[in-house]
Amino acid sequence: MAAQAGLHDLLAMAPVVPVLAIDSVEAALPLARALVAGGLPILEITLRTPAALEVIRAISGEIESAVVGAGTVLSPQQYRDAMRAGARFVVSPGATAALLDVAEASSVPFLPGAGTSSEVMRLLERDYGCLKFFPAEPSGGVAYLQALAAPLPGARFCPTGGIDAARAPAYLALPNVLCIGGSWVAPRDAVAAGDWPAITLLARAAAALRPAPKIRPQPPGQ
Ligand code: 3PG
Repeated sequence: MAAQAGLHDLLAMAPVVPVLAIDSVEAALPLARALVAGGLPILEITLRTPAALEVIRAISGEIESAVVGAGTVLSPQQYRDAMRAGARFVVSPGATAALLDVAEASSVPFLPGAGTSSEVMRLLERDYGCLKFFPAEPSGGVAYLQALAAPLPGARFCPTGGIDAARAPAYLALPNVLCIGGSWVAPRDAVAAGDWPAITLLARAAAALRPAPKIRPQPPGQ
């Protein structure tokens, strides 16, 4: 469907999507290079810092092998700003009618968030088969997602929130998990210290967690 065109294949490129809140463009470029070098090319830059749009613009302009998305997008205006900055996908912790409307009129795909079966069902009704499961750990984690698989076979999830290297494999083993998101691959102290080799090592370990699944989401009702 238009609002998610190309998104499944993009998210299937790597098992882990780094979720990043970046304070400066100066840090953003070496950080993105370190993550890509470790095998994580899909990056979610959250709009939680004043520099976020500039960071999206800089990474998408300068690091060809990175695929940059905008995260924590809460309003249509932020969606439009992210697109203008060069975001290749847009992520939200939830979904509102206003966001879904702007997504469906846009050429940049949308990964909306859902945390309950009713939220998942409402998004499936509008043909969104790839969903962010947020906040993953507080919402019930692996057991909860596993329980959604049989009744909601049309949904594929990118769980995010509270996941770390130790918890990641259990999520990635679920058939309804496409990839996972997390900030553990870019710890704030390593970013502050400019310890890019350490971040590449974390990225490499995350990239090796599992080859990305190739199963496509079923359209709702099938
Ligand atoms: C998000 O912004 O999607 C999550 O809050 C990232 O979660 P984490 O910092 O717990 O990995």
